Amino acid sequence: MKIVQISDTHFSPSKSHFNDNWDPVVRWIETAGADLVVHTGDLTVDGADQEEDIAFAMDLVRKLPVPVLIVPGNHDVGHLPDSDQPVNAARLARWRRLVGPDFWFADYADWRLIGLDSLLFGFEDAEEERQFRWLEEALKDRDGRRVAIFAHKPLFVDDPAEGDTGYWSVRPKPRQRLYELMAQNGVVLHASGHLHWAWQGHHAGTELVWAPPTSFIIDKLEREMPGERLVGAVVHHFGEGRVDSEVVAVPGLKPYVLDHVVEEVYPQAARKLVGAVQ
Ligand SMILES: [Fe+2]
Ligand SMILES: [Fe+2]
Repeated sequence: MKIVQISDTHFSPSKSHFNDNWDPVVRWIETAGADLVVHTGDLTVDGADQEEDIAFAMDLVRKLPVPVLIVPGNHDVGHLPDSDQPVNAARLARWRRLVGPDFWFADYADWRLIGLDSLLFGFEDAEEERQFRWLEEALKDRDGRRVAIFAHKPLFVDDPAEGDTGYWSVRPKPRQRLYELMAQNGVVLHASGHLHWAWQGHHAGTELVWAPPTSFIIDKLEREMPGERLVGAVVHHFGEGRVDSEVVAVPGLKPYVLDHVVEEVYPQAARKLVGAVQ
């Protein structure tokens, strides 16, 4: 089984800065021979507030010739409680109406693919707890299948035991709970997006992959991260109990640089600490 992971497309009909990279991605997917595409969020520039961004993005994604599963990003459903656009019931309802469930599982052969809504982590509320309970059940009743998790945010940035990284990764408390569930259930892969950097590593027996964005890289607006600045995608080859993941620089993609257009695309973030726009 071959799964193509794409991430951080940042589509919008009104802020069309990165839309041109979609055609090369589609052409490449058509020849990649994938069984499935998984999109790990930031589908839109501002689906958290602009319904038309989500509708526009879904029109594009639905034209792909293979099935697509999607988890939301912070620009799609909002972010942490103290952010400008916190996740709330209206934002979640919009995503669920226009795209589908924000967390899900799908069984393919010997594998259970689990999509998580990273943006529910850190609220310590009923929605967060509901997803954790659901995840526990999805792991428990997997009937011997191996597990791969897809989510928008990485588990950590520099160190598995690091403290709160704020914008960047899952907060320590839900992160620890995820580590324990992953270890108990031998989760093989955790694949994410969000950082706009490509990186591969592992932690406690789980392969970790940060998919590159298809949209833009970031120059000076962001702290240095592990890995490399790249626009592209990932091909995951699922075999007997293992996954081999390959980061791919998709031909024809333009490496747009957010620094050059941040005032137009994310003016609110540009006025604040300019790193907070991934
Ligand atoms: Fe993001
Ligand atoms: Fe992003």
